[in-house]
Amino acid sequence: MAKINVVFSESKGKINRDIYGHFTEHIGGVFYDGLWVGEGSEVENVRGFRKALVDSFKKLNPPVLRWPGGCYAETYDWRDGIGPREQRPARVNWWYSHDKRIESNAVGTHEFMDLCRQVGAEPYFAANMTSTTPLEIRNWVEYCNFPSGTALSDERAKNGDKEPFGIQYWGIGNENWGGGGQMTPEQCAREYARYSTVANSIDKGSMKFIMCGPNGHDVDWTSRLMKEWASKKWHEAPTYGMSVHYYCSFAGDPVAFTKDEWYQQLHQANYMKQVLDDHRAAMMEYDPDMKIGLVVDEWGCWHKDGSGPSKGYNLFEQQSTMRDAVVAALTLNIFNDRCDSVVMANVAQLVNNLHSLYLTSGEKFIETPNYHVFEMYKDHMDAKQLHVVNGTEQLAREGFRPMQQVSVSASEAQDGSVLITLANLEYDKDIEIELGGVDGLLTGQAEIKLLQGETPQDHNDFEHPTCVKSVISQRAFKDGDTISLPAASVMAIKLVR
Ligand code: AHR
Repeated sequence: MAKINVVFSESKGKINRDIYGHFTEHIGGVFYDGLWVGEGSEVENVRGFRKALVDSFKKLNPPVLRWPGGCYAETYDWRDGIGPREQRPARVNWWYSHDKRIESNAVGTHEFMDLCRQVGAEPYFAANMTSTTPLEIRNWVEYCNFPSGTALSDERAKNGDKEPFGIQYWGIGNENWGGGGQMTPEQCAREYARYSTVANSIDKGSMKFIMCGPNGHDVDWTSRLMKEWASKKWHEAPTYGMSVHYYCSFAGDPVAFTKDEWYQQLHQANYMKQVLDDHRAAMMEYDPDMKIGLVVDEWGCWHKDGSGPSKGYNLFEQQSTMRDAVVAALTLNIFNDRCDSVVMANVAQLVNNLHSLYLTSGEKFIETPNYHVFEMYKDHMDAKQLHVVNGTEQLAREGFRPMQQVSVSASEAQDGSVLITLANLEYDKDIEIELGGVDGLLTGQAEIKLLQGETPQDHNDFEHPTCVKSVISQRAFKDGDTISLPAASVMAIKLVR
């Protein structure tokens, strides 16, 4: 029988709660008919935001929300989203060429901040480094963060928010290797320095800037970006992180996948390890003290379009099955185990899009299997990561490094309770595991949450909203006891010792 051991004496430190972050872009159905239904809507709402979604989302204690893009940020003018809503300009946005939809700007800075307050999340603003000037970003910072007595801070007060928003996280640029201006890494580092230095002049020291990192595993981008970054003495603005975007995609059918495609998807998800480790190694040459964290501000599965409730109207909307839930579980375990270098991650995207936690249409609203994974994992936030010795078998596939049959991570909360999260990556094989501690005992009262479908293809839809949901059981657990992990399932064991 396979053994998994949690080592109490070995830890990489605290799991940054921001690893459990989310991403909400103005794209397809994320805001309009997803989060935002408008104050006059028949759909129950709180100041325009869909109440059912807000209530559910709040339960996850979401730490941080990235907004307004993505690519959308690269043509966004923040001034379009302030002032009386009925006077805001309709715009052709970044995604118009894909879906021919017009942006109403009904959701702007104040509405987004209201959403953050409603769900208790920190905002993470993605600022436009492609098509505006440094002055415009600086002005947005002043508008948001300056207390009062200037034209911009007084305008904020006039628009309904007297108190400054105090936005800490500012992403400077998005995918500048691609849609964000087709820059070279050297150009991107210089532009980043120019924009962040100017933005920082408003509010020195309280902001955390995030520089645009690579596309997936492009380590050359990271090395050249960091080399340029390190070659100057212009580090006026504190660089908190470098973004990484990695989607495990092969554009297959999200629901009708084969056993072979199941494994292909999971190997692609597991590749996240290589992506993070190789970028970290490249950064170390220029940042040996690891002052700059990895911010994986876009991750998830990217399947073929059109499987969501809008049947393709909402750009990139897709169904999420147990396969996506297992990808989420595996990915979050990977982040937990790299908590000494990953300081934030934002799954793409919250609702009606890629790897979503929710799907909506009019009044209809469901939680996808991904939602349950975030719910089951939430106690890892701010807990102390614990090393795990994973004795399960390895799964091989050509073109990939072998991966363990079971993905696992563990953490210890301040009250001494332990959370162990596991995902069985086997399509149709249940696994028995002997679970024990090293330098400490895994003995106590266990609350076990299990997420599984009848098949790996199972998912929730409006007709079957709870086809996949987590089931809770309790048991007294003794160090070395056995657990049964069904095929294609996710389990969270919370042990009060
Ligand atoms: O998440 C969808 C898009 O994917 C984002 O806008 C962009 O940054 C990425 O290419």
